[in-house]
Amino acid sequence: MAQQKLSMPTWSSRTVFLLAAIGSAVGLGNLWKFPYVAGENGGGAFVLVYLACILLIGVPVLIAELTLGRSARANPIQAMHQHTQQDRANKLWVGLGVNGMLAGILILSFYSVITGWSLAYFFDSLQGDFLQIPPAQAEQHFAALLASPWQLLFWHTLVMIITTSIVARGLRSGIEKAINIMLPGLLLILMVLLIYAVGTGAFAESFAFLFTPDFSKLSWQGVLVAMGHAFFTLSIGMAAMMVYGAYLDQRTSIVKASLVIAVADTLIALLAGLVIFSIVFANQLPPSSGPGLLFQTLPMAFGQMWGGWFFGTLFFALVFFAALSSAISLLEPTLSWLEHNRGIGRMKGALGLGGLVWLIGIGTVLSFNQWSELTLIGDKTVFALLDFLTANILLPAGGLLICLYLAWVMARPRRQAELRLEGIWQTLLLWDLRWVAPLAILWVFVSNLFSASSTALWAFLSVLVLYGFFVAYQTRSREEA
Ligand code: PHE
Repeated sequence: MAQQKLSMPTWSSRTVFLLAAIGSAVGLGNLWKFPYVAGENGGGAFVLVYLACILLIGVPVLIAELTLGRSARANPIQAMHQHTQQDRANKLWVGLGVNGMLAGILILSFYSVITGWSLAYFFDSLQGDFLQIPPAQAEQHFAALLASPWQLLFWHTLVMIITTSIVARGLRSGIEKAINIMLPGLLLILMVLLIYAVGTGAFAESFAFLFTPDFSKLSWQGVLVAMGHAFFTLSIGMAAMMVYGAYLDQRTSIVKASLVIAVADTLIALLAGLVIFSIVFANQLPPSSGPGLLFQTLPMAFGQMWGGWFFGTLFFALVFFAALSSAISLLEPTLSWLEHNRGIGRMKGALGLGGLVWLIGIGTVLSFNQWSELTLIGDKTVFALLDFLTANILLPAGGLLICLYLAWVMARPRRQAELRLEGIWQTLLLWDLRWVAPLAILWVFVSNLFSASSTALWAFLSVLVLYGFFVAYQTRSREEA
């Protein structure tokens, strides 16, 4: 492998690292997916399970991922090469980096299309398209967007151009500059919307919906969804946090930073949920309208409300900012690999990679119209398949490998140098990473495959399990010598 030793850039401050990591974590997962899956799964009980998943699986895996990145100070593939050398572990662990980069590219291909919807809605709202819109028309508005491949392609292209041009400028003049504008903007908008939500008169109802647990409404399927979502929302399992960790200075405490990131991400998801359900309930609309919650129910609600034009437009700006700050983190792992290991300049790499993601994204664009009848493995459209493959297979697989490597394979002194934990905290974290998180992830993984029940996915699982056994067999005896 051609390895060029370019020096790794670093964040200009700890605060900007935290903002960037929070920016990666906070995205469509918080504003679009969390409210509707909470709505579909009965609210409070789902939220409790989700919080437990964040604490018991999300935070430990986030700590592990940042640790693997910072301790190597290199892109995911290079980092895993270095780790396996230093820990004298099997080279197959490099697959962890490859898995992450692949997941990032595939996620961005559909994430960009959905980010495009928020941009389209921002402009529609700005033009006053949703004023006094009746329910049927709100549905039609969304359906018309999805039915038009050209419109979807236009917005997808625009999002990819913006994302690519940010990352092409590099860490400090691209990503940091964009984050420094977007994150404060996002928080400010959220605060304004929160005040507005309190003024709707349905805030208490929304609060009760999200925080009164009714376990009779929660199914096992809901628990699985909560766990899968914990991965997606914290951006873990796909090496984005690994590369953000690689740019991090040695003084910052990874454990504290991970807690800050997880708390911020969760708070923003909950606040967004409170805002959205207040608006929905104030208009006597149903909370369980699924993926259409953000793009059908909400515009309808804004259309009926005082100040709806202004606050609705602001809301879609919020969604766009949140999604864009996640999108840039999806490109970064592969881009940094191209730059540092392949000697491909950043600009060229960004263009090539952005172009590739754009091309794959066309599959998602067409899934909603021309190719809506075209179903692949397990009766899924291209979009549904990409979503399933990444959220239910690649991210959990990445998370599993990350915690197994950190807890079982990485030499203790090297791990200690990064974690700097003592006593009970260290024991608890290691115990969690060795047993609780891997078993929980495996459970989600296997259950999801059962529900998909397709031969191809079973074959995929078998290969992964064999791979896991092989790696575990090779490296087991080296730990804790
Ligand atoms: N965390 C982002 C969200 O909640 C999605 C994401 C996943 C971003 C993985 C980067 C990496 O929308």
